[in-house]
Amino acid sequence: MPEIRLETTDTMAEKTLKIATIPGDGTGPEVTAEAVKVLEGVAAIEGFVADVETLDWGGDRYLATGEIIPEGGLDLLRTKDAVFLGAIGHPDVAPGILEKGLLLDLRFQLDQYINLRPVKLLPGVETPLAGRGPDDIDFVVVRENTEDLYCGVGGFLKKGTPDEVAVQQAIYTRKGCERCIRWAFEYTRQRNSPKKTLTLVAKTNVLTFGHDLWWRTFQEVARDYPDVKTDYNHVDACCMWMVKNPEAYDVIVTTNMFGDIITDLGGILQGGMGVAAGGNLNPDPGGVSMFEPMGGSAPKYKGTDQINPIAAINAMGMLLEHSGQPAAAARIDRAVAHVTGTKMKSQAAGKMGYGTKAVGDLVVEALS
Ligand code: IPM
Ligand code: MN
Repeated sequence: MPEIRLETTDTMAEKTLKIATIPGDGTGPEVTAEAVKVLEGVAAIEGFVADVETLDWGGDRYLATGEIIPEGGLDLLRTKDAVFLGAIGHPDVAPGILEKGLLLDLRFQLDQYINLRPVKLLPGVETPLAGRGPDDIDFVVVRENTEDLYCGVGGFLKKGTPDEVAVQQAIYTRKGCERCIRWAFEYTRQRNSPKKTLTLVAKTNVLTFGHDLWWRTFQEVARDYPDVKTDYNHVDACCMWMVKNPEAYDVIVTTNMFGDIITDLGGILQGGMGVAAGGNLNPDPGGVSMFEPMGGSAPKYKGTDQINPIAAINAMGMLLEHSGQPAAAARIDRAVAHVTGTKMKSQAAGKMGYGTKAVGDLVVEALS
């Protein structure tokens, strides 16, 4: 009967996850390969199909063709359930070109307005904070991802003369901050930690226009979430508290530029770029999100089998968490914690006690 056939087709479709990978530059392809290996392992166990399309976007393609995102590229990404980005940054391409032309362009064009960056110290991972362990460092930064100083508005006057003027504008919109703040409240509610606290991080004592808009919006949205406690830190104080009392944080919501800076601090608290991962989310219906290890392309380690793939594997876990496969994500989290906790000597490239591929194999082995 036609009804039955339709139902079968729907179920099949639900079980196929369409993913585009952009392995990118430097060590990006190596860590992406390990993340995909783990994806295939977990898909087999959890019973879904990962349909992976690999895109050659990045420095080499740009040098060969002059093109960063090829024509039709965005439309192709819009047909996917999620995107995985390895790393961008090429020694022969001037700084800023690939960052703006690929990473920032994708964030903006796909309207990925949340940058979600967990700061979680895994078992066996060393933090530079003396006397701190996994119980102390477990919070999440929700970074606004499409506005602020990142909007690219500005210009020069009298460029190259002694009277030169440079203007770089920060733009904040009610819509932009409200959708981010609201998402952060929802996330804090769902995370449901004993602290259940959302902290706004900004600089209201100096940025008396833009961050006043954030402050007022935060207070208004908070009324819809009486079960979530709220707090506020100036960004400079936040840097201090993250080091002094990281256990006090649950979820932080912040502006794009400050979020960029404090998540590097967060990254090092959780053991460095070898483990830190993030997601650029478009949580709207039909939105396409992109997941990435936070570290760069580390060209000096390219092709040496020394780079740590854990951050990329964590990013793949986040991708699954946000693509309707929470059980698979939890399985990856457990496997990674097992490998960092009982196998790896260090999270630093070249000091792991294993090569890149061997670490990927250990995670795959620990999945079941
Ligand atoms: C990040 C990076 C990017 C940013 C750069 C590469 C444009 O630092 O993802 O945090 O500033 O957002
Ligand atoms: Mn950054």
